[in-house]
Amino acid sequence: MAAGTWFPDQIEGETVVLRRHVSGNLAAFRRWYADPEVARLARYQDAPMRLDEIDRFFQVRAIGPDSLAMAIHVAGSDRLIGSCAFSQLDGDNGSAMYHITIGEKDTWGHGYGTEATALMLDHAFRALGLHRIALTVFEFNERAIRAYRRCGFTVEGRAREAIWRDGHWWDEIQMSILGSEWRARQDAGVRSASRRSVRQGNPAVRAH
Ligand SMILES: CC(C)(COP(=O)(O)OP(=O)(O)OC[C@H]1O[C@@H](n2cnc3c(N)ncnc32)[C@H](O)[C@@H]1OP(=O)(O)O)[C@@H](O)C(=O)NCCC(=O)NCCS
Repeated sequence: MAAGTWFPDQIEGETVVLRRHVSGNLAAFRRWYADPEVARLARYQDAPMRLDEIDRFFQVRAIGPDSLAMAIHVAGSDRLIGSCAFSQLDGDNGSAMYHITIGEKDTWGHGYGTEATALMLDHAFRALGLHRIALTVFEFNERAIRAYRRCGFTVEGRAREAIWRDGHWWDEIQMSILGSEWRARQDAGVRSASRRSVRQGNPAVRAH
């Protein structure tokens, strides 16, 4: 199914705006994914992607017809800072994997990743009607783990010593959130994301 039937053109939060990727975002992907510091946090291999791998990744995962990715822009300035996406969408079981990379390192720790994730969960559970969103994160990535916890993810398992990095073995942590848990947080008034407006880009999304 084409991505346009799954995502609106734009999802607006308080501090970030999620937009469909455009081909001009490739230059930013080339910078982000060639950065060893980003690779250290987000990649199984200890080295960044090669340029040809980044280009293929961008074509398939960011702007390809089956991609479920959104570009993260800072609200107001419109600056492009990262990308977030679902993969492995399993329609039979209502589940997907979640991924996020904020590649502009000077914007780490400003709350943007937390809000982008909250907006994606809001879309997954409210608009798409999914049942479960899961992710994996390296044990040493404390910033990511805190952001995920704040959005309602809980640890459900760990692959022990699955990652060799910085001269140590680290666990790969598995986290997930269920639709029922997300709704309970909404009912309890946990403010996960502000949705000032969602500009619908597709009738199939409007129909949800
Ligand atoms: C992980 C990522 C999405 C988080 O987004 P962010 O905008 O930087 O983070 P936020 O500001 O929204 O939230 C960070 C949380 O970690 C805390 N934090 C910030 N800097 C931290 C640090 N250096 N160490 C530990 N915790 C830190 C913040 O206090 C906040 O937690 P709190 O809300 O409980 O106070 C982003 O940093 C990123 O993309 N990093 C590079 C790639 C990556 O790690 N991707 C995830 C792979 S699983």
